[in-house]
Amino acid sequence: MIFETHAHYDDEAFDDDRDTLLSSMPREGIGLVVNVGASLKSTAAGIRLAEKYPFVYAAAGVHPNETAELNEETFAWLRAQCLHKKVAAVGEIGLDYYWDEPSHEIQKLWFARQLELAAEVKKPVIIHSRDAAKDTFDIMTAHNAREIGGVVHCFSYSAEMAQEYVKMGFYIGVGGVVTFKNGRKLKEVVESIPIEWILLETDSPYLSPEPNRGKRNSSLNIPYIAQKIAEIKGMSYDEVVAVTEENARRMYHIQK
Ligand code: NI
Repeated sequence: MIFETHAHYDDEAFDDDRDTLLSSMPREGIGLVVNVGASLKSTAAGIRLAEKYPFVYAAAGVHPNETAELNEETFAWLRAQCLHKKVAAVGEIGLDYYWDEPSHEIQKLWFARQLELAAEVKKPVIIHSRDAAKDTFDIMTAHNAREIGGVVHCFSYSAEMAQEYVKMGFYIGVGGVVTFKNGRKLKEVVESIPIEWILLETDSPYLSPEPNRGKRNSSLNIPYIAQKIAEIKGMSYDEVVAVTEENARRMYHIQK
């Protein structure tokens, strides 16, 4: 079965058909889904989905560009959500310098605080990092990310950087970009790291793979991603699905 490690089904893009779509997942071969928090509101909505669907887990966290909503009070609320039994990870957290809001200093502060939170609750982290390779790596190193574990999702850096993260014990999240004509860099990443460190993800509703590029994404598109990885690695499709399921279970601590 396919383990979808990163989706946002709380997004308004799914308001018209959320329940129909999610209910169809198990019979379409999507066995597990982690709905990832991007804000306080989406964290709450993700937990509600995880409570409703046995195959859905949630991640609780605030995306770097939303960290202006964090303060001691809201952070205490977030901490309480992390203790929920269907919260499998803290995320997505990190740095995004593509957008300058809020300031880099505020992003760095709450990235560090959420890393500390993950260490405290003993759950892995889902890292979002864009145009901030060095600061992300430095903050993770300074906060003993090796002890926390997790995934660098929607990986957008070089193969060399991917190898550094793997050395740190982090998985690499691979999504629709690997199917794009201009996705050469991510293809090199997939080539250069062992399949044991790759996770399948969509980031739905964003980043639909070919041949559905530009349309709303959903976990039902994961086979296109797995097929592309199989081609790059010279493996069978079934092997890619099976190994990445094991990887995701190991990372999220979700047993069979
Ligand atoms: Ni995401």
